Amino acid sequence: MSETNAERKNFIELRPGIFQIYNIKPGSHVYLLKGTDKNVLIDSGIVGNYPVLKEYLNQVGLRPEDITMMLLTHEHMDHAGAAGYFAKSAIIAAHRNAANKIELQDEFVTLQAFENWRAGSIKVDLWLEDGNCIDLGNYQLQVVHTPGHSSGCICLYEPSQRLLFSGDTVFGGGTLSNIGPSGNISDYMHSIKRLNTLRIDELYPGHGKVSKEPEQDMKKALGYAMSLFEDSKLLFQTLAAGKQKKL
Ligand SMILES: [Fe+2]
Repeated sequence: MSETNAERKNFIELRPGIFQIYNIKPGSHVYLLKGTDKNVLIDSGIVGNYPVLKEYLNQVGLRPEDITMMLLTHEHMDHAGAAGYFAKSAIIAAHRNAANKIELQDEFVTLQAFENWRAGSIKVDLWLEDGNCIDLGNYQLQVVHTPGHSSGCICLYEPSQRLLFSGDTVFGGGTLSNIGPSGNISDYMHSIKRLNTLRIDELYPGHGKVSKEPEQDMKKALGYAMSLFEDSKLLFQTLAAGKQKKL
């Protein structure tokens, strides 16, 4: 008998009412927050992830139309691809620097060209800014704009439980992501420095394992960001020196 998605234990309750749907590769993890006032999904995974999401929502007594809001951590289609399926009933929200790229279907920046990542038209209803707060009743989510991996990256911070939903900004162990087409290393370093000022008990990333040692992770991330910054400086200096030689 073949194993169903539900039997794979890819659906874990991390805190009361907070669930992680482990990624159906190559998509991102999806987080479900079953709030007393509203139900929120953080990211959607790739476009083909919708049947899996539906199945897991069903396990906790929810239908797709019971999702009131979908928060997208950034514009990459391994995170935002299935958002369109929720558009009729849920408010789709992303930072304005991600919203514009998603709405314009900017193929280069949203990485639509990757196999199975092409999602088509997605309307973003709410363009977020740093400092916005989403009140779920039992939980709150504060928007922290963390450009670097892309210009539209956000993390979502839950202050009462000290949880950080970090998207692709930082992963368990302090690993950083790549610099995407709209990203920038200086912004990335600043974002990590800023996250390092938050008190975080658990890190819920967009890929990989949940971390219960975020303090150590953030220190490592800062070190990685600094060495990445120094490497890129060296690269540009070398390139500039080569160009001058030719002249
Ligand atoms: Fe990404």
